[in-house]
Amino acid sequence: MGCPPVRPAAHHTEGVGAASDDSHTETSGRSVIRVRRSGPLSGSVRISGAKNSVLKLMAASVLAPGRFTLHNVPRIADVALMSELLEGMGATVAHGAAGSAPDVMTIDVPEVMVPEAPYDQVERMRASIVVLGPLLARFGEARVSVPGGDDFGHRPIDMHLRALEQLGATFTTSHGYIQGRAERLTGAQVLLEYPSVGATENLLMAAVRARGTTVIDNAAREPEIADLAAFLNAMGAEVDGAGSSTITVEGVESLHPVTHTVVPDRIEAATYLAAVGMAGGSIRLLGARADHMVMLLEKLGDMGLRVDDGGDVLVATASDRLRSVDVSTLPYPGVATDYKPLLVALLSVADGVGILTENVFAGRFRYIPELVRMGADIRVEGHHAVVRGVDALSGAPVRAPDIRAGAALVVAGLAAEGETVVADAEHVERGYQDLVGNLARLGADIS
Ligand code: EPU
Repeated sequence: MGCPPVRPAAHHTEGVGAASDDSHTETSGRSVIRVRRSGPLSGSVRISGAKNSVLKLMAASVLAPGRFTLHNVPRIADVALMSELLEGMGATVAHGAAGSAPDVMTIDVPEVMVPEAPYDQVERMRASIVVLGPLLARFGEARVSVPGGDDFGHRPIDMHLRALEQLGATFTTSHGYIQGRAERLTGAQVLLEYPSVGATENLLMAAVRARGTTVIDNAAREPEIADLAAFLNAMGAEVDGAGSSTITVEGVESLHPVTHTVVPDRIEAATYLAAVGMAGGSIRLLGARADHMVMLLEKLGDMGLRVDDGGDVLVATASDRLRSVDVSTLPYPGVATDYKPLLVALLSVADGVGILTENVFAGRFRYIPELVRMGADIRVEGHHAVVRGVDALSGAPVRAPDIRAGAALVVAGLAAEGETVVADAEHVERGYQDLVGNLARLGADIS
């Protein structure tokens, strides 16, 4: 389905295993979210630190021995998985330890570590791959399981490896593991064929300790990349231009631990915006950053959702039925692929027909049959979804195929007559701190 970034011929990892996503593909099926038609919503939600930033900051901590302190760390399953991965390498991680706030994490990084990300951890969380760059930079070697299959379609890591090779790393793949080596990384001019978030991050975390200058061209521009660069700079790195398409890194001899506050999660914020769009009402998102969601807010504005930026708080109000729009997902600053299931849910009850085009992940339409089971009128053609708004959805048992799609099904349940039961809700817990509690506090009928 679709053909997201055009890539050159297969790299040497192809064929080792099916590609995987950030999502945990095995679920125990024990966790279920029940939601009934709700609204209007009212009240406030505090937005947590961004999952897709904190996981990378945790990985970056292996670059320097000593104690790191992170603030605004969400209590989500993926953070626990990254903690396990770091602990397996020899670090000590404490999240919300006695005497500290629940969102504070300390990471004690030892002098000697086991530079390895084993199969069972990478398999449970694809984002584990971001330890590759920092491990190579600090230890000159890394052994990382090749990520396996997931629900987004094929997700190779060829760009990560090719970029690191340009800094002088070499890779061999056998028995499902990538073995990377680098006597001393050397700065280089690296042109990414696509602004991959993970490849940009791996390269950035390697380049900070390389000899000389690295220029990353066509870099990903996501706010989480800028957050990682700010973290690295505080550690003593010299990174310039993060958040733009060209990042310049002057390699340094040593780095030191720091205290840092994680940027707010724009996808979590978008989830509550979708909830109020679905159920109506007026809610306040504390700590959300409008400047990280400009394109999304424009689209939601076109649909009739009003969002006022009050500095450290966004006030979102939906008083009428939303109108349909056409949307295409793109790398940042475009509308993120992670917003897409939420937008499809909104369009499914909006007035008119909207076409959603997925340009980032080929296979990210798995939740659509679930929405159709709830009465949505959606036709998928290639990487387009044509969504004809219906007057109301009807509650049904559905299954969450991944984090964002799971959240979108919960949000859809807010506008569905009767009860919606979202199974495999552990996916949702991987990326959301207390989605159910927060929605309940806004007045949703959810458990
Ligand atoms: N790609 C390649 N080769 C590579 C790397 C990427 O072909 O070596 C392709 C992917 O298959 C995909 C596209 O490039 O089609 C974009 O992938 P990217 O590398 O940008 O994504 P990622 O780093 O794997 C992160 C987020 C995702 C988010 C995407 C896009 C994390 C942990 N994950 O993934 O978030 O959807 O960027 O913005 O940061 C989520 O939070 O649920 C989630 C999936």
